[in-house]
Amino acid sequence: MFFFKRSVSLHTLSNLLYLSLGYLKEREGGGLNSTEGYLYAYNIKGLGPGFYYYHPDKHALTLIKPINAPLATFVQGQHFVNNLPLGLFITSRFDKMWWKYPHSQGYRVSLLEAGHISQTLQLTATALGMRTWVTAALSEEKIEQALGLNNLCEQPLLFVGAGYSNGEALCDELKHLLASESH
Ligand SMILES: Cc1cc2nc3c(=O)[nH]c(=O)nc-3n(C[C@H](O)[C@H](O)[C@H](O)COP(=O)(O)O)c2cc1C
Repeated sequence: MFFFKRSVSLHTLSNLLYLSLGYLKEREGGGLNSTEGYLYAYNIKGLGPGFYYYHPDKHALTLIKPINAPLATFVQGQHFVNNLPLGLFITSRFDKMWWKYPHSQGYRVSLLEAGHISQTLQLTATALGMRTWVTAALSEEKIEQALGLNNLCEQPLLFVGAGYSNGEALCDELKHLLASESH
């Protein structure tokens, strides 16, 4: 899907992160999981471009690194999403999961958890008027470098992008080009 070069407000980003990953203050307990969320912030009004770690307990971000390459570099060359204003790299801390469930079934729970969080993020983004794009086609080494993941026990599983779009697969320039070619 093609996304507009339109920025996302800090308020919208805040709601998106809180409702999909935050430890909700509306209820006590629960919310313990082995999934982590790393923000790819490319076009946010009031927040510098960079890779950030999201702290679900504090509802806060920590800058890991500025962005040094287009998004395609991290998602196996899928350049058509380079305009995406934001996205979330979802990782799993398998070591945490195995601490709680010390048997191979824990692996299944990690994968289910990542899928549920990505779906929650998509539902929240949609409710906030955005469109989403999910990919499991990850360039793992590049992502590990960008996010500073040095421990094999934490692995990236999914990327969920969100931004403004009319849902079209092609950008205007490409549509015009195709139209002119057919004459
Ligand atoms: C697990 C998963 C992996 C996906 N991987 C890709 C991908 O690598 N590239 C892609 O263009 N779309 C991928 N998609 C589809 C897009 O997320 C999205 O569905 C698509 O852009 C069309 O949007 P729509 O479903 O709103 O029509 C994937 C979806 C899922 C659930």
